[in-house]
Amino acid sequence: MITAFGPGRVNLIGEHTDYNDGLALPFAIADGVTVRAEATAGDLIEASADDLGETDRFLAASPEPADGWRAFVRGAVAELTELGVAVEPVRLTITGTIARGSGLSSSAALEVALVLALLSLAGEAGDHDRIELARLCSRIENDWVGAQTGLLDQLASLCGQPDHALRIDFRSLEVAPVRLDLVGHKLVTLDSGEEHSLATSGYNERRRECAEACEQLGIESLRDATTVMAQALAEPLGRRVRHVIGENERVEQTVAALAAGDLAAVGELLDASHASLRENYEVSTDAVEAAVGRLREAGALGARIMGGGFGGYVLGLLPPGAEPPDGADEVTPGAGARIIEPNG
Ligand code: GLA
Repeated sequence: MITAFGPGRVNLIGEHTDYNDGLALPFAIADGVTVRAEATAGDLIEASADDLGETDRFLAASPEPADGWRAFVRGAVAELTELGVAVEPVRLTITGTIARGSGLSSSAALEVALVLALLSLAGEAGDHDRIELARLCSRIENDWVGAQTGLLDQLASLCGQPDHALRIDFRSLEVAPVRLDLVGHKLVTLDSGEEHSLATSGYNERRRECAEACEQLGIESLRDATTVMAQALAEPLGRRVRHVIGENERVEQTVAALAAGDLAAVGELLDASHASLRENYEVSTDAVEAAVGRLREAGALGARIMGGGFGGYVLGLLPPGAEPPDGADEVTPGAGARIIEPNG
C-alpha cells in the first residue's frame, strides 16, 4: 500500500499571472488530498472518492474521458502512460481536507497525489523532476478536466517548503523559496460561501482575452507588455493587460516588503491586488466582496480574492492581536507533495 499526499495552496500574491509568463508567490498548506494505492490483479483501475461515496472503474490500458473527479483519475493514468510509465491495475482511495471549489487548489492537490501514488507504485517516484510533474498535472487539468489553468497550483503543491513562500517566475520556471516571516501577523482564509469552478467560470474567457491582447500587440506573452502598449488596446483588453503588468510588479514589491519585515506594506499590496482583480480583471463577485469586507472589519491590513476568482475563499493579513472573523482559518506554509508510507 502506498500513501501519497498533495497539499492545497494559498497564493499570497500574483494572480492570473501564471499563464502570462509572469510572477507569483504561493505556498503549500497543511490541508490537501490523500491517495492510497494498492496494486490489484486483473486489468482495471478502481478509484473511489470517499467523501462522495462514488467509485469509478476503467481499463488501465484505455482510460476514456469522464466528468467530475473521474476525469482527474483517468487523466492521471493516461498522461503517465503517455510519459512511458507502466501504470498497473490498482485500487485508489481518495480522501481530502479541502472543499472542492474553494480556490485552495483541491484540483492540483488531487492531481499531484494521484500522480505521486501511481509513480511510486511503478517504482518511479524519484525519476521525474517536479517541474516535469507539474506540467503533466497541468495537462490533466487542461485536457481531461477542461480548465485552461497555468502551472501555479501544481508547482506550489509539488515544491512547497515549510516556512517559505515560493517566488515563481513562469517564464523561466525558476522556483525560489522566500522566507515568510510574518512577525506575529497571521494569514487567514475565509469562505465567501460561493463555490467556484474553473472549467465553467469566466476563467477560460480571461485566458482567451490575454491571448487576444498578445495577438493584437504582436508579443508572445503579456510578460512583455508595457503600460504604453496597454493604452493602444480597446477595453476590456487594456484593463486585463494593466492588471497583469501591475500584479507582476506587486509580487516583486511583496518579496521586498517581506525581506524588510514591512507587513503594513504587504497588506497594502494585497489590497491593491484585490482592487485590480475587481476593477481591471473583473473576477470578483458580491460574495467575494462581502468576505473581503468581513476581513477588513476584523482589522485586516490587507485582504483579497485568491486563485481564479468568481467565488471561493479569500485571503486576509491580520495584525497581532486581531480576532479573526468566525469561520476564518489560519494558513501557514507547509511541505510539498510527498509519499507518506512507502510500502507501508
Ligand atoms: C487558478 C488556476 C491557476 C491560476 C490562478 C489565478 O488557481 O488554477 O493556474 O491561473 O487561478 O492566479
